[in-house]
Amino acid sequence: MRTGGSDSFFIYTFGCQMNQADSGIISALLQQEGYRPAESDETAGIILLNTCAVRENAVDRIEHYLQHLQGLKKRNKDLIVGVAGCVPQFQKEEMFSISPAIDFLAGPDTYRSLPSLIEQVRSGAKQASLEFNAAETYEGIDPLREGSISAFVPVMRGCNNMCAFCVVPFTRGRERSHPFSSVIGEVRKLVASGYREITLLGQNVNSYRDAEEGRDFAALLDAVSREAPQARVRFTTSHPKDISEALVQAIAARPNICNHIHLPVQSGSSRMLALMNRGHTIEEYREKIALIRSVISGVALSTDIIAGFCGEREEDHKMTLELLADVRFDSAFMFFYSTRPGTLAARTFEDDVPEVVKKRRLQEIIDLQNSVSAELYQQAIGSSVEVLAESDSRRSSEQLMGRTPGNRVVVFDRKGFQPGDLVQVLITSATSATLVGRPEES
Ligand code: SAH
Ligand code: SF4
Ligand code: F3S
Repeated sequence: MRTGGSDSFFIYTFGCQMNQADSGIISALLQQEGYRPAESDETAGIILLNTCAVRENAVDRIEHYLQHLQGLKKRNKDLIVGVAGCVPQFQKEEMFSISPAIDFLAGPDTYRSLPSLIEQVRSGAKQASLEFNAAETYEGIDPLREGSISAFVPVMRGCNNMCAFCVVPFTRGRERSHPFSSVIGEVRKLVASGYREITLLGQNVNSYRDAEEGRDFAALLDAVSREAPQARVRFTTSHPKDISEALVQAIAARPNICNHIHLPVQSGSSRMLALMNRGHTIEEYREKIALIRSVISGVALSTDIIAGFCGEREEDHKMTLELLADVRFDSAFMFFYSTRPGTLAARTFEDDVPEVVKKRRLQEIIDLQNSVSAELYQQAIGSSVEVLAESDSRRSSEQLMGRTPGNRVVVFDRKGFQPGDLVQVLITSATSATLVGRPEES
């Protein structure tokens, strides 16, 4: 086996888009110190797992990979393995007991110390760097990006919301926004490099507030869209309480801001939303949806749902089904509740919905949402949609895959187009998750 140089690294990323963006920051930081990316974990001298703690199976998933790494370590005694991201931030030094393969731990705010952690590991001792740093936004670091079409741009980190079920405030720390001018500077560079899509990222992207001048997310989104007039601009994830009239107006006014809002609701019952500490009622959520739909024509909405949170009764579950049937989201991420130690819910409530009930409710939610998505996608047959081509389709290089402004996946005949092209596509058929079509004759 070729074991590659001890100065080569490989990052395996789990979790949300913030974690993917952080892996780009870690790559840039390591490269600044003379490390270089390895082709695969088999050839790397340093392997980093960037981990997610949001649901229960998070630790199981990395345990499996760590077993594989232990095998690699038997063959390459110099291999260094680090676990970064949300799981070690949450489990602290206990992590070392999960696998003897782990040499060091690094939390989301300590990536600047990775080169020195690696050096210390080389001199023999296991290391952990897990401090929070509420000032850290990794300003001045140009993240390494995969691909040349679509780029993530983190604009804020952390979360102050304390939803009762959620571990993120404990893994990511206090909310902090990147300076307005540095976001615009990054967007300018991406435009110059030819990127066609820019996605602004934050756990609560629409609670963005520039520390220097107090400008809000509506102002940022507007400015980004003007800086990148030829690119599509997206953003995720929004919190319902921070959907303002100004934000909705900005999305409607700027043609290159995609007409799509991912707006997690979690439950259709106000009683559950209060237990979850979401900070709004279901009536208020419905009002936000009405505002969005009245201002942004053709807007696509998607959401997150949790089935079986503590204290959820059958009537609450029915309200979630009613909400899905009324709002008709384009798509949804749907989960059953799992307790995360240390969260408000874990400390205060009993996880009292039996697993079979959680799973049955989740299945009802998934079945309903799939039928809504299928209907909406069927209705798109015969229409013409603008697609940003991203890559070859998985099935055939004769077809390209891309997305509509509403984030629907479209597979279409290539007809000489390339990834990065904006193509007007006539939709000819659909499943519940994909539209299929061909480029319109121009
Ligand atoms: N603010 C981020 C939250 C990231 S977590 C966002 O809104 O995207 C993403 C989703 O995971 C949440 O919206 C929620 O639906 C789900 N989730 C979080 N904690 C959970 C838990 N303990 N059990 C099940 N699902 C959970
Ligand atoms: Fe978690 Fe709620 Fe913050 Fe989202 S808003 S990261 S769900 S605490
Ligand atoms: Fe997971 Fe951390 Fe993101 S817990 S969802 S990787 S913020």
